[in-house]
Amino acid sequence: MLKKDFKIFDKDYVYLDSAASAQKPQVVLDRLVHFYQNDYANVHRGSCHLALQATEQYENARHIVADFIHADFNEIVFTKGATEAINLVAASYAKTLKKGDEVLVCVAEHHANFVPWQQACVQSGATFKTFDVMDNGTWDLNDFKKQLSKHTKLVAVAQISNVLGVQNPVEKVVQLAHEVGAKVMVDAAQSVTHLPINVKDLNCDYLAFSGHKIYGPNGIGVLYGKGEVLTELKPYQFGGDMVDKVTIEKTTFADVPARFEAGTPPIANAIGLAEALQYVSQIGWDKIQKNEQKVFAALVSGLKQIDEIEFLGDPDLKTGLVAFNVKGIHADDLNLILAKENVCVRVGHHCAMPIHERFGVKSSLRVSLGLYNDQEDIKVFIQALHKAIGFFK
Ligand code: ALA
Repeated sequence: MLKKDFKIFDKDYVYLDSAASAQKPQVVLDRLVHFYQNDYANVHRGSCHLALQATEQYENARHIVADFIHADFNEIVFTKGATEAINLVAASYAKTLKKGDEVLVCVAEHHANFVPWQQACVQSGATFKTFDVMDNGTWDLNDFKKQLSKHTKLVAVAQISNVLGVQNPVEKVVQLAHEVGAKVMVDAAQSVTHLPINVKDLNCDYLAFSGHKIYGPNGIGVLYGKGEVLTELKPYQFGGDMVDKVTIEKTTFADVPARFEAGTPPIANAIGLAEALQYVSQIGWDKIQKNEQKVFAALVSGLKQIDEIEFLGDPDLKTGLVAFNVKGIHADDLNLILAKENVCVRVGHHCAMPIHERFGVKSSLRVSLGLYNDQEDIKVFIQALHKAIGFFK
């Protein structure tokens, strides 16, 4: 239905890898070209018409992002991706954590919300802890409560894991974490494309997502930091635009969010991201979710008819993505046949080795949906999967 908005689908691709990166609608590509052709200059520096115009559009993009997740304008930092957004916060914690402090993450986190925290603990001498998931893929909240302590300084969790696909009860975890004085980083890299996000309702301290997964350009990400909490972070990178005054003796820093945007920022990409968010808003969550639920139900129903499939978690609890293995056949082998049929999925550990280890497997085949997928895609995929299984049996 929405494929017409995406030029790439003029070709016969069945694209089922939006969890890795989503395709770009023409309006986003047009916006980028228009900006570069007509309005481009650096931001926050020049005073010529172009520079002022570029600055206005860049800062307007910040407003659009803030509105999209119900944040305030100065709570939004542009980064080059979700990974950089999380690293920004983790780098600050690496400087302030001390021996005896604890950081608690879910075992299902992808490496972007796992490794930076592990490294912050290595650097600071703090203790890195994980909490488990249940076999059905939901959070083990009893284990969470067991691992949480008065020493926990930060909890890092994904709203939807890129392997398990379950919508997690973030509000509950935020409430429990706040009771012991810990801050919470929410990784919304997957969830931002499947459900509306309201940071005020979540009450999280930090939230990160990438532009490229929500139909925007590569090289842009967002860090949300709650008011004063963001102000408490140490600067991440140093250079132009993040300073207030520089002398030979010392430097004082700009207010947030500029303090966290050293150097020339990804100007066009921020504007392109804003266009993508407006595109999503114009379609509306109601329409996006209704279509996705129908397509996902067809996917799960097709998969359940294949006896050899072993799901990672309960497929009926997932939103927009499902990972599985086919007994006796390596996911890479299946992918060879799927690729020949022009079906794009992801196989491997999906940058989330610990959760694969938790389920006793090294890799899986993941199918993930974007707003452009339809029932026909699922039909082609299921047929191709049957063909692949038949080939290797
Ligand atoms: N984290 C991304 C994925 O799940 C890259 O594929």
